[in-house]
Amino acid sequence: MMNIITVSQISKKYGNLLNSTKALNGVSFNIEKGDFVGIMGPSGSGKTTLLNIISSAMKPDVGEIIIDGKELTRMKENEVANFRKNHLGFIFQDFNLLESLTVEENIILPLTFSKFKKVEITKRLQYINKILGLTPLNKRRIDELSGGQKQLVACARAIINKPEVLFADEPTGSLDSKSATQLLNYLEKINTQEQTTILMATHDAFTASYCKRIIFIKDGKIFAKINTNGDRKEFFEKIINMQRTIGGGDFFNA
Ligand SMILES: Nc1ncnc2c1ncn2[C@@H]1O[C@H](COP(=O)(O)OP(=O)(O)OP(=O)(O)O)[C@@H](O)[C@H]1O
Ligand SMILES: [Mg+2]
Repeated sequence: MMNIITVSQISKKYGNLLNSTKALNGVSFNIEKGDFVGIMGPSGSGKTTLLNIISSAMKPDVGEIIIDGKELTRMKENEVANFRKNHLGFIFQDFNLLESLTVEENIILPLTFSKFKKVEITKRLQYINKILGLTPLNKRRIDELSGGQKQLVACARAIINKPEVLFADEPTGSLDSKSATQLLNYLEKINTQEQTTILMATHDAFTASYCKRIIFIKDGKIFAKINTNGDRKEFFEKIINMQRTIGGGDFFNA
């Protein structure tokens, strides 16, 4: 299989000389086209930082990211912006929705600046709405929604332009189990049927059990990697065991 993402020796510090946090410390791995990779690890272990760097929202201090044969860390800003728009989808931990727009306006946002015709946009909107059960909420403004509803809108917006690579940071964190399962089934579907490559950070073992493999990070370093054998229940048990082995973040142990 072809590598779609190569992450090589990524390190990232926050803060200044006197007061700094090493969020990532020499992380390397490959992701193949059509992979569905979970990123797990205690709070503060560097998951969001890693997703932000791989998705080109943030630059690493050291290291390289190659996506689809392109070296992201060396691309110009407008090239990166174009690449993101055409190839990548994002579901952020804090949603990043435009509060004063409606649900529908938020969902179609990634399509409005692109080549899509109005009929095509409407068709895709209807399809996504149906899958995620969002139709009744379409005309509401974002600031009139619950946390879980916002999360679904963020998911709809991320997948409407059928990205080649989808980044998801805790996509089920605010969802009830029915909505979470609906979303996960959909992610599994685009992964298997459309070869969408998915990279998903989560704390939740049930959510993670939908992945094909999981990379555990602790203190900014890769701690372990596990693969599914295709049996979701067995994988779930394996994930729970690894979570026990890795323990909580230092924050909670302090
Ligand atoms: N903007 C920032 N400025 C300073 N430190 C930061 C910043 N963002 C994150 N950090 C620190 O970097 C480390 C990694 O944070 P990160 O958000 O990547 O963790 P995470 O694994 O996503 O955690 P969670 O599971 O809580 O979402 C933490 O110690 C965090 O406090
Ligand atoms: Mg995070």
